[in-house]
Order: sequence, then C-alpha cells, then structure tokens
Amino acid sequence: MARRRMVYEGKAKILYEGPEPGTLIQFFKDDTTAGNGEKHAQIEGKGVLNNRLSELFMTGLNNIGVPTHFIRRINMREQLVRAVEIVPLEIVVRNVAAGSMSKRLGIEEGTALPRPIIEFYYKNDDLNDPIVSEEHIIAFGWATQQDIDDMISLALRVNDFMSGMMMAVGIKLVDFKIETGRVYEGDFQRLIVADEISPDSCRLWDIETGQKLDKDVFRRDLGSLTDAYTEVARRLGVMPRNT
Ligand code: C5P
Repeated sequence: MARRRMVYEGKAKILYEGPEPGTLIQFFKDDTTAGNGEKHAQIEGKGVLNNRLSELFMTGLNNIGVPTHFIRRINMREQLVRAVEIVPLEIVVRNVAAGSMSKRLGIEEGTALPRPIIEFYYKNDDLNDPIVSEEHIIAFGWATQQDIDDMISLALRVNDFMSGMMMAVGIKLVDFKIETGRVYEGDFQRLIVADEISPDSCRLWDIETGQKLDKDVFRRDLGSLTDAYTEVARRLGVMPRNT
C-alpha cells in the first residue's frame, strides 16, 4: 500500500493528500497545546471527540447554506475536506468578555457584550498571532475589503447557528475562532469556513453553573479535558462510536 503524502502538520491536526484532486484528509491528533505551544500534552481521545464535534457543526452549517470545507467523516480521526487556500487570519467572535479580550481591555470575564464583537488575528506563530485591524489586513494584502465583508458575514452566521445549538443543550457560546479559505469555481472565487470548529476553538460555559467545557480546562488546569469535551458531545447526542 502506498504511503499517503502529508501536506501539512499543525499543532493539533495533520493534512494528507485526498483521494480526488481538490480534496484533503484532515486527521485530528490528541496533541493539545496552549500559549502557542508553550504548554503541550497528549490527551487521549481528544482527536476523536473534535473530529466528531467538528463534523456535527460543519454539517449543520452546510445544511443551512453556510459553506464549509467539510465533505464527510471517514473514520474516528479523519474527515474528507475540500482543499482551500487558507486566509492567514483567525476570526474571533465574542458574545461575552473572556480570555485575551478581558486581559487586554480590563473587562471582567463573564461580562455580556452589547453585540457580538469580531476581531481579526494574523496567523503567525513567530509573532504569537497578533490582533490586527482591517487597515492592516488590506494594507498588507492578507485579504481584500470584499473578503473582510464576507468573513464578517460568515462569522456572524456561524455565531447565530452555534449559539442556538449550544443554548438548546444548556451551554453558552462565549466566543469562538474560525478560519476561512478560498475556493475557485470557474471564474469565481469565494470564501468558505475551513479548519475545525470544536471545543478547542470555542469557549463553552454551562448556563446554570458556569462550568467551563472547553480548552480553558487545559489552559488553566481545571480538571479533565476529555471529561469536558465528552460532556459537550453527550449533550449534543454525538458520543463517539467505534466506526
Ligand atoms: O485567547 P482569546 O480570548 O483571544 O481566544 C478567543 C477564542 O478563540 C477562544 O474561544 C479560543 O479558544 C479561540 N482561539 C483559537 N485559536 C487561537 C486563539 C484563540 O481557537 N490561536
């Protein structure tokens, strides 16, 4: 059997060449990092949970007409995705102040925001993914004004969908990060949601107790990350099976 060609290895995922042109296989590792790789651990089963949860969210988004790279899950750790040209920006949507926003602006964690706030970060590990303005994005050619408008629209639609889905199972979507990628279709190009959407990239708080059910459990040593993600999967009805 021929060895698959690895296209890219990141902190939590590996991309392999897919079976058809224009596709990739996205493999979810158990590796968990925080602080740009400063803290690192293997957390058994995390990759399986994130593969399943990202499938659930991306399938739902595809179904309501928010385009994503997700095609189908292949097995417990892998999914088939469309190959995209990743835009080097992380798009963060915040509904409640937490994390770096609270630190940067001195706003107490848990403060409800008057409207969803969108931030852009430049994807660059050497620079620790700095926050950037739309001016920077356009001036340095990372994306056009049209791309920015499209990214904001995608991010807000993801926020509405994910907030509702989480609220239905007693979880508050505090904030999340998405990435987008370019696909080319004939004479046109458009942006679609890429990468993953999982408790690694969201803040999820139990509505009743405020318990954290996301990667902050690892970042802040609050207990078992697997238990937290399993609880999210259980509530959403997608406990991983041996497939
Ligand atoms: O750290 P910060 O408060 O800016 O994170 C905002 C949201 O974006 C959190 O849900 C966090 O998990 C996510 N994030 C991410 N990847 C990064 C930075 C932040 O998924 N590199």
